[in-house]
Amino acid sequence: MEHNINVINNEESNVVISKYIQGQFAEHLGTGIYGGVWVGKNSEIPNKNGIRSDVIQSLKKLNIPVLRWPGGFFADNYHWQEGVGSYDKRRKIINSSWGGTVEDNSFGTHEFFELCKQLDCEAYININFSSGTIQEMTDWLEYMLSSKGSMAELREKNGHPDPWKLKFLGIGNESWGGGGNMRPEYYSDRYRLWQSFVRKYDNQPELYKIGVGPNIDDFNWTDVVMKNAHQFMNGLSLHHYGLTDVWNNKGDSVDFDEKEWNSLLYSIKKMDYFIEEHSKRMEQYDQNHHVDMIVDEWGDWLGPEKGTNPAFLRQQNTMRDAVMAATTLNIFAKHADKVYMANIAQMVNVLQAMILTDGPKMVLTPTYYVFDMYQRHQGATRIDAYSDNGDPVNYTISKKDGNYIVSICNTDYQQSQNVTITFANSLGNVNYNKDLHSRKMNAHNTFDDNKVLSLTNFENYKVMDNKLSVNLDRMSIVTLSFEIK
Ligand code: AHR
Repeated sequence: MEHNINVINNEESNVVISKYIQGQFAEHLGTGIYGGVWVGKNSEIPNKNGIRSDVIQSLKKLNIPVLRWPGGFFADNYHWQEGVGSYDKRRKIINSSWGGTVEDNSFGTHEFFELCKQLDCEAYININFSSGTIQEMTDWLEYMLSSKGSMAELREKNGHPDPWKLKFLGIGNESWGGGGNMRPEYYSDRYRLWQSFVRKYDNQPELYKIGVGPNIDDFNWTDVVMKNAHQFMNGLSLHHYGLTDVWNNKGDSVDFDEKEWNSLLYSIKKMDYFIEEHSKRMEQYDQNHHVDMIVDEWGDWLGPEKGTNPAFLRQQNTMRDAVMAATTLNIFAKHADKVYMANIAQMVNVLQAMILTDGPKMVLTPTYYVFDMYQRHQGATRIDAYSDNGDPVNYTISKKDGNYIVSICNTDYQQSQNVTITFANSLGNVNYNKDLHSRKMNAHNTFDDNKVLSLTNFENYKVMDNKLSVNLDRMSIVTLSFEIK
């Protein structure tokens, strides 16, 4: 099929694609933290301060801008005091959110900030809004951010004299469901109360406060929370996961057919509609766009990998997931004027992960490679364009540091696509040309064969002055970057 994409009015927009839309999420869930990231200082797995080096080395290459922690559901069971101080005194709790495993709290606040330091990313902490208290929240904030007082002294006693930097604060998680079954009226009043105790700390920027937003199409939630509390927040969250069928019938992550490819694609594409529709509700109360949309949980939620604990939400990751990730990142870019941050669920071993581990073994997933290509759009100016022929092709076009950057995804598992893009300016030298493709829908990397899918040099394009013609293989994702002449 032929697709012509033209840059609108030959002008670039002034919309910046926030780097934070390539954020990650890591929860105390299955092996998302324990085993996947944290192995402890005495582990035989090579580590730096308890954090496994192989995983960090790979994640560092993605330029991760922000990491959300400690949940998710787990956040509402998390009591931060139990995760600081000497390891032998840390309380062993039952992780009642995820499988009833014993959580020894060896990964706590200090370890999280060490992880952010090793990744060189911003921290996003979701506080315990359901089973915690305001006092517990303010103590934690003081512990992390204050340079004086008892909490600062305790932090120093525990080995970290200097306050850390925290940019994002989530006040609640899915409070409409697992986070408290609250009604939006109650949540918004409670949010107003709690946020009023979040203060600014010496030498720290104001915290960016994120309120709990809707689950998928719960427009009433958005309406009520925005009406009652928008003036007290910087961002409102949205959660949407891609499913192949109904919630209780999750399709397999490897054994699937064309029908399930299509149904998953249909499901993830609803993100476009949800952002559009929730934004309209938000704008009713927030005409000056003070509150951003924060999609702090998204990704494919498929059935558990065979032989794994279903409560650990471990799934394989195939070419299909890569196509879904690229399509979703393209949707976020399309709405870059509204979406300021997004956090894929989750970084390692859980749901649509970047990396899978098994003991000392590690493998990069196809989704990892999508993030690897797309990092070029972080903080770039989006270029608005229109296409004369929509599906099955979706794309992001941007401009950064004197380069045009183009990512195109062909969601068709049967046919290749020809795409021609007409730019405002002529294209100079190419400085990045990679693609991810496979002829098999469920192609995936394994510990034994980790090179089934990885980025390859992409040569199937032609440049003529200001025109770029690309031939995209079926189910493939391409990123190209050219100097602007
Ligand atoms: O990401 C897994 C879970 O999905 C999170 O803990 C919860 O917030 C959501 O329902």
